[in-house]
Amino acid sequence: MVAQDGGGRLVVEGLEKHYELDGAEVPVVKGVTFTIEPGKFYSLLGPSGCGKTTTLRCVAGLENSNGGRILLDDKVLSTGTEHVSPDKRDVGMVFQNYAIWPHMTVFANAVFPLQVASGRLPKKEARKRAMEALELVQLDSFAHRPATALSGGQQQRLALARALAHRPRLLLLDEPLSNLDAKLRDTMRSELRSLQQRLGITALYVTHDQSEALSMSDRVAVMHEGRIVQEAAPRDLYYQPADRFVADFVGRVNMIPAVVRDRSANGDALVEAFGTRMVTPCPSGVGTGGDVTITFRPESVRWHETAPDRPNVFPARVARVEFLGEIVEYEADVLSGQTVVGSLVARGAPLNSPAAGDTIFIELAPHACRVLAA
Ligand SMILES: Nc1ncnc2c1ncn2[C@@H]1O[C@H](COP(=O)(O)OP(=O)(O)OP(=O)(O)O)[C@@H](O)[C@H]1O
Ligand SMILES: [Mg+2]
Repeated sequence: MVAQDGGGRLVVEGLEKHYELDGAEVPVVKGVTFTIEPGKFYSLLGPSGCGKTTTLRCVAGLENSNGGRILLDDKVLSTGTEHVSPDKRDVGMVFQNYAIWPHMTVFANAVFPLQVASGRLPKKEARKRAMEALELVQLDSFAHRPATALSGGQQQRLALARALAHRPRLLLLDEPLSNLDAKLRDTMRSELRSLQQRLGITALYVTHDQSEALSMSDRVAVMHEGRIVQEAAPRDLYYQPADRFVADFVGRVNMIPAVVRDRSANGDALVEAFGTRMVTPCPSGVGTGGDVTITFRPESVRWHETAPDRPNVFPARVARVEFLGEIVEYEADVLSGQTVVGSLVARGAPLNSPAAGDTIFIELAPHACRVLAA
C-alpha cells in the first residue's frame, strides 16, 4: 500500500493564462478560482476548448500562468511571476494518452520517474515504491512484461501507478478514460474513485463527459470560455443549474419560455407556459410580468392515462418514442384543444411507456422545475 498522509488542500485564486497567437494575446483562463479540500475528488467539466487542460497544466507546472496564485497546503506553487518547477510540486499527473514508455517494461515505467532528477530516490526505495504502486492498480503480476503488451485499460492503470509512485499530495487527471471503450470506462470510473478514496488523495479531474463528472466527484466546477460558471455537488449541479448553459451542458434538459403572472409569499409563482397557468418555484428578483425559462429534466416528467387532480398537468400527444434499452425517450406535443402549443422530451421505464400517437397527460411537479430568469 502506498503510504499517504492524506491529500493536500489545493487553492487556485484568480488564475490567468493567455497564449500568444500571431503577436496577439489570447486569454484562455480568465480568473479561475476554486479550492479542493484534502482528500476530495474535484472535477473541471466543460466543452472542448474551455480551458480545462490549460488550468490543469498550470497546476502541474507544465505551463506558467500569467496571473493569480496556486497553493498546495502552505506551499505557494505559482504567483503568476514565480513558478515552482513541476518536479518540486508534489503532484502526480495522468494524461489522456497515458504517455507510457513503449520501449520499457511495466516495472521500468513505474520506477523510472523515481530515479531521475530531483525526485531521485535510493534504488531500493524506488523499486519498493514502484512495486507498491503496481500492486495498487493490480498490475504487479505484469511487472516484467513490455508496456506495449498491455490492454488499453491496463495501460491506463499503469499511467495511474506511475503518477502514484511518487506518493504525491495531489493527483491530476486529464480525461484519463476517454481512450477506453464504454464498458471499460464504466469499470475504470469506479476503480479510480475507490482507489482515490482508499488513499485519501486529493484529485483534480478534467473531463467533458458530464456523467463521468457527476458519478465520480465530490464537487464539480463547470467551465465555459475560460471561466468557472458554477461549482456545486453533483446533485445540486444537475437539479439546480445556475443558468441555461449549465442546464444544457450537464445532461438533457427541457427549456420552456414562460411569463410570471403572480407571485406568492412562499417563493412559488403562477407562471404562464404552454398557454396555461402552472405553479413553479420562482427566482427572487423576478416580478409579475417577468420573462423566465422553466427547465426540467426529461426523467422528471410523469405521464398518466387520465388527468390527476394536481397542478401542472397538460394534455399531450406522443409524437415519437425511442427505445434506448434501460429507458425509453419520448417526445410529447402539448395540446390546447387540438392545437399544439409546445413540445417536450420525457424519459421513463420501457415497460411502462406510452406509444406514438397516444393522447396522454403530462405532469410537471413544481419541485421538478428549476426556473431561471430569462
Ligand atoms: N499552446 C497553445 N497555444 C495557443 N493556444 C492554445 C495552446 N494550448 C491551448 N490553446 C487554446 O486554449 C484554449 C483552451 O485549451 P484547452 O486545451 O485548455 O481546452 P480544453 O478545455 O482542455 O479542451 P478539450 O476538451 O478539447 O481538451 C483553446 O482555445 C486552445 O485552442
Ligand atoms: Mg483538454
